[in-house]
Amino acid sequence: MDEKMTRLRASELEDSGDVGNNPTANLTMGEVIAARFNRRDLLRGSLAVAAISATLGQRALAANEQPAKKGMASSFDFKEIEAGVDETHHVAEGYDAQVLLRWGDPIFADAPDFDPMSQSAQKQSRQFGYNTDFVGYIPIDGSSDHGLLVVNHEYTNEELMFPGIGVQDSKDVNFSKMTKDLVDIEMAAHGGAVVEIQRRNGRWEVVKDSRYNRRITAETPMDITGPAAGHERMKTAADPSGRRVHGMVNNCAGGVTPWGTWLSCEENFNGYFWGKVADDHAEAKNYKRYGLGSPAYAWGKFHDRFDVAKEPNEPNRFGWVVEIDPFDPTFVPKKRTALGRTKHEGAAGITNQDGRYVVYLGDDERFDYVYKFVTAGKVNREDRAANFGLLDEGTLYVAKYNPDGTGEWLSLVHGEGPLTEANGFRSQADVLIETRRAADLLGATKMDRPEDIEANPATNRVYVMLTNNTRRKEEQVDPANPRANNAFGHIVEMMPEGGDHAAKTFAWEVLVKCGDPSVASVGATFSSETTRNGWFGMPDNCAIDSQGRLWISTDGNSAKTTGRADGLWALETEGELRGTSKHFFRVPLGAEMCGPCFTPNDETLFLAVQHPAEVDEGAPSTFENPATRWPDFKDNMPTRPSVLVITKQGGGKIA
Ligand code: FEO
Ligand code: CA
Ligand code: CA
Repeated sequence: MDEKMTRLRASELEDSGDVGNNPTANLTMGEVIAARFNRRDLLRGSLAVAAISATLGQRALAANEQPAKKGMASSFDFKEIEAGVDETHHVAEGYDAQVLLRWGDPIFADAPDFDPMSQSAQKQSRQFGYNTDFVGYIPIDGSSDHGLLVVNHEYTNEELMFPGIGVQDSKDVNFSKMTKDLVDIEMAAHGGAVVEIQRRNGRWEVVKDSRYNRRITAETPMDITGPAAGHERMKTAADPSGRRVHGMVNNCAGGVTPWGTWLSCEENFNGYFWGKVADDHAEAKNYKRYGLGSPAYAWGKFHDRFDVAKEPNEPNRFGWVVEIDPFDPTFVPKKRTALGRTKHEGAAGITNQDGRYVVYLGDDERFDYVYKFVTAGKVNREDRAANFGLLDEGTLYVAKYNPDGTGEWLSLVHGEGPLTEANGFRSQADVLIETRRAADLLGATKMDRPEDIEANPATNRVYVMLTNNTRRKEEQVDPANPRANNAFGHIVEMMPEGGDHAAKTFAWEVLVKCGDPSVASVGATFSSETTRNGWFGMPDNCAIDSQGRLWISTDGNSAKTTGRADGLWALETEGELRGTSKHFFRVPLGAEMCGPCFTPNDETLFLAVQHPAEVDEGAPSTFENPATRWPDFKDNMPTRPSVLVITKQGGGKIA
């Protein structure tokens, strides 16, 4: 590889916002507001923002400014845990946390047992993969005790997986310790899995001889569908049709559709490509906007398609939402290009009041955007098969948050507004392949790393997790991203006009600014009923339980950042306790909390623990010397990312 190239560690790729690829200068609302208000007032911070919001008629009171009543009953009836950091996990009193699946667990009856000292790609492709982010549960015959678990295997940590590798030197741009065998194991540990699970006598177990169980890897053949399928920019030497690709990578969160398919989202795909195209190459600007050029993996060393110099179109075939039918293990996964190409965090959706399906999509990078996709057709509840083309036709929109608490969805349609040949868009395929650049031209609002977005079917309100953005400067502050140096993130609540998720307008407000409310300079706005354990930083994944309540998992809390491990918190969104948060679960040192997912009866909660022992402070963990020993001491293999099931002792709803 070019010696001038830089490389990233996998953990740095996950914190991909550091790349900061949005070059536009036209979109910060700070400037819009500064034109209307005295700049100095604006720079006074959150109070000034609240005042501006009030002036403009927004429902402006932050959660902690609303009168909280002492003794009001929380809608979450669990006793919260102590926030903190140690080498194990903690769940609220009266609950069981069972490890259901760990990296390397065999998921087929004939799969080999896990042995980290003699791992191979072949074995890995029959075992549970690494670092699960998204967890979905798809009931079999409507059951909450028997269903298909669908999970993503987002990325790999070679220093924790492989004996003798150690922490790689970031100056070693040739990844000299990585062999083809190790790379192939990594490729087999990526992707996702379908696993049939069943609850018997109160305990969940894997059905190993299930006809549904499946591993999807970075080599699984997939179809490319929708407007970009077959386009010149999607064709490669191995695929002259531009319609067939191998694998999905860095699949972060996702969604489950009402017709029982799994949507899996490719996020930081840029980190898998090395090499360069010339500065005057037709794709040079495209690849810069998506942050290619600093690989986190050595795949391009052994597989030409991951070397941009050898196969310049391959990156255009990644960064999509993938639809998979978990009930058919021979189903060829579909990359649905109509939903755009970004660093997709998730794809949670809702059936709109008119029957169309609406998918909300976050592009997880500092200063990138919030999107939604509205299908042209309607969900067919009588005929499952009729829904399989639904995500190929529809309209992709990007969000613009106005300072007055209103917002607009701007359509990404070729030929409309600036999305024309004059700007390099010759077709809808071009608009979708370069979704980010199209959204730049439309004037979308630059957000603080949009992660999961969930619509609450009980209220039609939509919750957007904005995890952090320490690169936002004072002059870039706007009401939807109200803090400079936003280390702890915030949550935006959106109200579609008339409860219509297909509407082009919405109202919005900041539900909560995260961080420690006892430190005034942080400017956090949890309600005053929130205890010292109840606040959190860096919201990432989220779930809405069947009772319409919001649960949030975090990525980035640590002894150093917030004095607490990542975990799961329950957040009130309605009534006078709105903005009150309670701590339910926390992960061991170095881990990140993912999932979460409830069964339809709310009696089981699935959580995913990513990269336990991944620490950047002090002596970084390695396979031989991990910073924590969890969850299985007996194998002396303590750093296995896992999926957990949480149930209430004695049964009943989680809360
Ligand atoms: Fe994979 Fe946006 O976290
Ligand atoms: Ca995430
Ligand atoms: Ca994350």
